Amino acid sequence: MKKSRPQRIRKAVIPVAGRGTRFLPASKAIPKEMLTIVDRPTIQYIVEEAVESGIDQIIFISSEGKEAIENHFDYDYELDTVLEKKGREKLHDEVKRISSLIDIVSVRQKKPLGLGHAILSARNVVGDEPFLVLLGDDLVLSETPCCRQMLDLYNEVQEPIVAVQSVPEDQTSRYGIVEGEPSSARVYKVERLIEKPAPGTTDSNLAIIGRYILHPDIFAILAKTTPGQGGEIQLTDALLALTKKRAMYAFEFSGTRYDAGDKMGYLQAVVAYALHHPQLKDDFRRHIKEVAASL
Ligand code: G1P
Repeated sequence: MKKSRPQRIRKAVIPVAGRGTRFLPASKAIPKEMLTIVDRPTIQYIVEEAVESGIDQIIFISSEGKEAIENHFDYDYELDTVLEKKGREKLHDEVKRISSLIDIVSVRQKKPLGLGHAILSARNVVGDEPFLVLLGDDLVLSETPCCRQMLDLYNEVQEPIVAVQSVPEDQTSRYGIVEGEPSSARVYKVERLIEKPAPGTTDSNLAIIGRYILHPDIFAILAKTTPGQGGEIQLTDALLALTKKRAMYAFEFSGTRYDAGDKMGYLQAVVAYALHHPQLKDDFRRHIKEVAASL
């Protein structure tokens, strides 16, 4: 029997409450999400991915000291007037575009109790509908936005989905790892999830990358999830509990993922995004070639 029409996913939750200790000292006084990749902060790439995927509302899960993120997407009357007066048309348009990208709501995570707890903080704003989660450290460079690819799959399966990619076996302890059975091209039916397993303790090397499609039933599970790996309430543990109740899929998206919360991953992202930048790519490619030749 054909499944009924899926509910359209309108909301995306983006946790930005983390301290960014991996990026100290750069993240001491500015949120790590505001570090620049070429000409915009990393968080703007994440928000734009959601917008390009057809999302209507962003819910930031925020904390003290992260106001710069909200300000970035806000309308700045003074800046608007100055740029207009000075005739800086292109800049003026770009600054205005950012503030009109999408409807943004911000919720405070009251205590730093982990990713699962951060998602639970969105419960009242998400309400009773399926939603997306995007983690700010994971940038995906792809032709079709990663979330759009996931939403297309969601329209078929109508069950929760986690984005995954294969990682070297000695890196499993950095990620949530998914064990499952292939169900169609690049799609796995999830059987088990383990948060940051030590290398060699799982046969799978399919790592969760920070994109999820969840149903509101995850909230009741999160409310009961006890602290796990690192003493934090883990989304991965709640997802494992969810597999006992309903089907869940892991999806190997097409695109390249960069861990912008890691120093090396951040540098790789800067290079990759510069090589794709419409105005800078030719000059930058030439520069990179010169640098490579001089090594
Ligand atoms: C979080 C999740 C983990 C996932 C990762 C992706 O970990 O807990 O399952 O694989 O994001 O970036 P974190 O990187 O916040 O420690």
